[in-house]
Amino acid sequence: MKVEKICCIGAGYVGGPTMAVIAQKNPGIKVTIVDINAERIAAWNNSDLSKLPVYEPGLAEIVKETRGKNLFFSTEIDKAIDEAEMIFISVNTPTKTYGKGKGQAADLKYIELCSRNIAKVATTDKIVVEKSTLPVRTAEAVKSILDNTGNGINFHILSNPEFLAEGTAIEDLLSPDRVLIGGESQEAIESLASVYSSWVPQDQILRTNLWSSELSKLTANAFLAQRVSSINSISELCEHTEANVDEVAKAIGMDSRIGSKFLKASVGFGGSCFQKDILNLVYIARSYNLNEVADYWEQVIIMNDHQKRRFSDNLIKTLYNTVSGKKISMLGWAFKKDTNDTRESAAIYVADHLLNEQAQVSVYDPKVPKQKVYSDLNYLNTRSEEENENNVTVSETPYESLKNAHAVAIMTEWDEFKDYDWKKIYNEMKKPAFVFDGRNILDKSKMNEIGFEYYSIGQ
Ligand code: UDX
Ligand code: UDX
Repeated sequence: MKVEKICCIGAGYVGGPTMAVIAQKNPGIKVTIVDINAERIAAWNNSDLSKLPVYEPGLAEIVKETRGKNLFFSTEIDKAIDEAEMIFISVNTPTKTYGKGKGQAADLKYIELCSRNIAKVATTDKIVVEKSTLPVRTAEAVKSILDNTGNGINFHILSNPEFLAEGTAIEDLLSPDRVLIGGESQEAIESLASVYSSWVPQDQILRTNLWSSELSKLTANAFLAQRVSSINSISELCEHTEANVDEVAKAIGMDSRIGSKFLKASVGFGGSCFQKDILNLVYIARSYNLNEVADYWEQVIIMNDHQKRRFSDNLIKTLYNTVSGKKISMLGWAFKKDTNDTRESAAIYVADHLLNEQAQVSVYDPKVPKQKVYSDLNYLNTRSEEENENNVTVSETPYESLKNAHAVAIMTEWDEFKDYDWKKIYNEMKKPAFVFDGRNILDKSKMNEIGFEYYSIGQ
């Protein structure tokens, strides 16, 4: 089937950048991204490119080049579905917050809604591509809905998980390590492969069966998260033995069998995927009664929670066992640098813990808007919205946040934090001035020289 029109349901962090790159590399294909959230679509259509709903280096340039030519953002979901030969489902699949599997299983409500909608409006054969990360064997459910409620046309289901990381999404999309396509119909697989082959070499386009593809995505995220938890577990040991975790990471990373990436000790991993996907893996393993497998992966999450907790406990202990009424400046709220995404960010949990101890929290992040900080904290439901407003301030500039602070907690590894005038900051902070570097981005000896009491992870 030759693909001339693509529809993508879900204009989020995955759908937006992925489709922008597909449109840029395939000028002959019309790509329409639809979403039920009209505000989000309006933001994607904003003529001011700095107001796009997703911040990713390089994204605005591609949107500028393609929008209105062969890339469109729309709320007319049914129309876009019906005219496309290929439909990507890229809606969110959060962890369930109710019922069976609560707190672990993926909530597939939106996937089902999309499938039913496709079945209802489609009048010609379609290739339906799962872009969202899904539990293994979800394609079975999608196929059953499409075949049983559709208008008697043919649907081919493909799994095409996205491996991009936020902050480097465009780079990752333009030169992916691999593109993975799982499916049953060879013809459908080749249709999707032809879209990618406009810029991805053939030998990097892997073809597998549906179930391997679905499971590979969960496995890749579980392995990556496991590396972070592994090095974080060693960081705690380092703090008790005078070993330095960055030196250990370098030493082991030079072993080509281990490799150097994903060995940066931190205050804990965040993001929309790692925790959710591991919980999902754990849930699936348990559903097959594979309890040892489930326990094994669950430990990655337990370690991550411990690392976040340990960071705030250590801060409180060092500040003479109380932060009540003290101003704690948190630099960074995003779950990693170069993104405005805050989902599952360690900063949220550290702030929540400090607020429980009655601290006055002051946040500065170069890309996260004020409202997001409050909504992240309110979402936890630990205290009233009013209390969060009274005890948390979000500053426009770092210096405002740091002024008169008792301590600084570095939560995100934004490059600009390294270039701040730390001497000036020191002069304006309360003494002794404490720095808790949750990302090990500052130079310990320079900070000590200025006069700071500097604490980092695993050193
Ligand atoms: C993606 C993947 O799809 C998810 O499975 C993966 O694990 C994380 O990344 P992401 O793009 O980050 O999700 O999610 P989000 O930014 O929340 O975007 C999803 C969009 O889908 C939202 O804009 C939402 O409004 C839209 N949506 C949701 C629909 O258009 N229809 C629905 O029925 C549900
Ligand atoms: C991840 C996967 O990398 C990507 O392939 C998948 O498609 C989605 O999930 P993402 O969550 O965007 O991407 O970011 P990633 O770079 O993987 O970082 C996740 C978290 O781990 C961040 O909080 C990051 O700060 C943390 N991390 C990462 C570390 O603490 N140390 C490291 O060495 C690497």
